[in-house]
Amino acid sequence: LKLVAAMAFMGYTLGSVPFGLLLTNLAGAGDLRKIGSGNIGATNVLRTGRKDLAAATLLLDAAKGFLAVAIAWIMTPPDFSDRTVTVAALAAVVGHCYPIFLGFKGGKGVATGLGAMLALSPLTGLAGCATWLGVAKLTRISSAGALAAFIIMPVVLLALYGFSFQASPKPLAAVLISVLVIARHHENIVRIFSGKEPRIGEKKP
Ligand code: G3P
Repeated sequence: LKLVAAMAFMGYTLGSVPFGLLLTNLAGAGDLRKIGSGNIGATNVLRTGRKDLAAATLLLDAAKGFLAVAIAWIMTPPDFSDRTVTVAALAAVVGHCYPIFLGFKGGKGVATGLGAMLALSPLTGLAGCATWLGVAKLTRISSAGALAAFIIMPVVLLALYGFSFQASPKPLAAVLISVLVIARHHENIVRIFSGKEPRIGEKKP
């Protein structure tokens, strides 16, 4: 139990690092909170006009999710690692969405969730990334791609592992991560249905 708590703390702290804000501040690319959706993620960094910073934000936010799971895996004896990696994945996404370093006002968990899922179940993560890219390309709406990906991933994991928590806690974590990510997109969902969600490349929601 101590190890599970330690990995939850590690995942949460790592997930809390707001790379989008750090990079745009360091580069003097403007105040993310006052641009576009006000979100700290790569999609909003793109609205500053800095593609390089957006790509770096996407990679680093995904890397912290991946790393949280990898660290938990390395630090835990094999017979116990299913639980610790699952908790670390969930904690990293919670950290990104409710970061200790930003008064708990964080992002939407897309990149971090994709990174964590890639480490937790590579097949599921790849399915998520493909869905995200495919739907975003088709619709030109980043949040639509994200929503589709986080609907698909728990389904893929459940198909792979089944419903039994005893067999693996990973599907439950995927469901919880998806519920959190989708809930964090409530404003995007309203905008999508009212036709007001900006396309990739547009600045104003
Ligand atoms: O990665 C978050 C994305 O799905 C939506 O971001 O800035 O358009 O709300 P944003």
